[in-house]
Amino acid sequence: MLVGIIGSGAMGAGIAQTAAMAGCEVKLFDVNSQACHHALLNIGESLAKFGKKGLIRPSDQVSVLGRIYVCEQLDSFSECNLVIEAVAEDISIKKQLFAKLESIVNVECILATNTSSLSVTSIASSLNFPHRFIGIHFFNPAVLMKLVEVIPAVQTDDITVLKAVSTVESWGKQVVKAKDTPGFIVNKVARPFYSEAIRILEEGIADIHEIDVVMNEQGFKMGPFTLMDFIGHDVNYKVTESVWRSYFYENKYRPSFTQLRLLEAGYLGRKSGKGFYSYPKDVDKNTIMPSEKANDIFMRIISMLINEAADTLYYNVCGENDVELAVCLGLNFPKGLIAWGEELGFTNVADHLDHLYGLYHEERYRVSPFLHVLAKRKATIK
Ligand SMILES: NC(=O)c1ccc[n+]([C@@H]2O[C@H](COP(=O)([O-])OP(=O)(O)OC[C@H]3O[C@@H](n4cnc5c(N)ncnc54)[C@H](O)[C@@H]3O)[C@@H](O)[C@H]2O)c1
Repeated sequence: MLVGIIGSGAMGAGIAQTAAMAGCEVKLFDVNSQACHHALLNIGESLAKFGKKGLIRPSDQVSVLGRIYVCEQLDSFSECNLVIEAVAEDISIKKQLFAKLESIVNVECILATNTSSLSVTSIASSLNFPHRFIGIHFFNPAVLMKLVEVIPAVQTDDITVLKAVSTVESWGKQVVKAKDTPGFIVNKVARPFYSEAIRILEEGIADIHEIDVVMNEQGFKMGPFTLMDFIGHDVNYKVTESVWRSYFYENKYRPSFTQLRLLEAGYLGRKSGKGFYSYPKDVDKNTIMPSEKANDIFMRIISMLINEAADTLYYNVCGENDVELAVCLGLNFPKGLIAWGEELGFTNVADHLDHLYGLYHEERYRVSPFLHVLAKRKATIK
């Protein structure tokens, strides 16, 4: 299979490496030719790391690199079977690119976007034959993250979905299918992990370290503040803002001033040396917190997450198995949110949200109707 990758930044390079490691021939194009050469260097370094761990033979490192061809012109993509675009997150750039690409590739070629937050349907509308267009959303670093969201546009036909799913699965990835809605699965369901933690901080209930420790103790490898610093506040804030706008300014997704101010100050997190924490991070201080307070913090964040997962099912964004896979593989959560809801009791989760609603009278604490469905289902199974 010949795969074209447009954009050779963090994502394009990772997807090119993934496809080449799976045996595909890959063509790589970027408006900035330096970026392609930089990508090849990064891929070489990454393959060397795989080699050191004994995961790939030296001869295979050479052949993987040999299957990636840097192209000076988009015209070189004429024979591609699949083209994945990973250029800047700007809808007009993406639309212009696909309109041009359509005149180069043959009509059988599947065209895909790696967008995180734009409407796949809207990008597809730039094409004369949008039935072969689809969202294939990899996670960063693409070569290591097992999860891929596949997002059919309204115009996409069934054959394209089947081909996209089987191709990505043949690259060793776990595919989840999502409806073309803002944030798809992972970037939607994850929002409360950040936003509710920030609310707890803003209300002065606990500090960043205390909240992180509470969540670490519940099995989350990174607490919300450590994770936001790791992702970078430029990226994390932008995704929140985009999901909030795209959901027609729904209150529960509203970004925070706390994070906006960090962004304005240039405190982007780990990469800039300062975010919520300063880096290198101080040795963690001991945190002794009354268990009731720790439980309140945990219940507030986990209830919001379970509610968001339930709402995702309520609106048929994806199936139950896929929402569980998405949070475990895309967010490294210690278990699925529906499984967690079952453990805590969906009725208890709904009661907790009702309690928060009673305190704050804010729409963000509205209980998803699907939480009640899940509670009833559980009662019936018993
Ligand atoms: N970085 C992430 O964590 C992540 C995760 C999932 C999806 N995405 C999505 O993947 C896409 C790329 O993200 P990234 O982080 O790799 O960006 P990046 O800035 O690292 O790379 C983008 C590359 O696209 C090139 N480019 C811009 N316009 C172009 C054009 N018209 N034609 C060809 N090349 C062009 C740039 O020169 C640059 O090298 C975005 O849509 C982003 O939302 C990013």
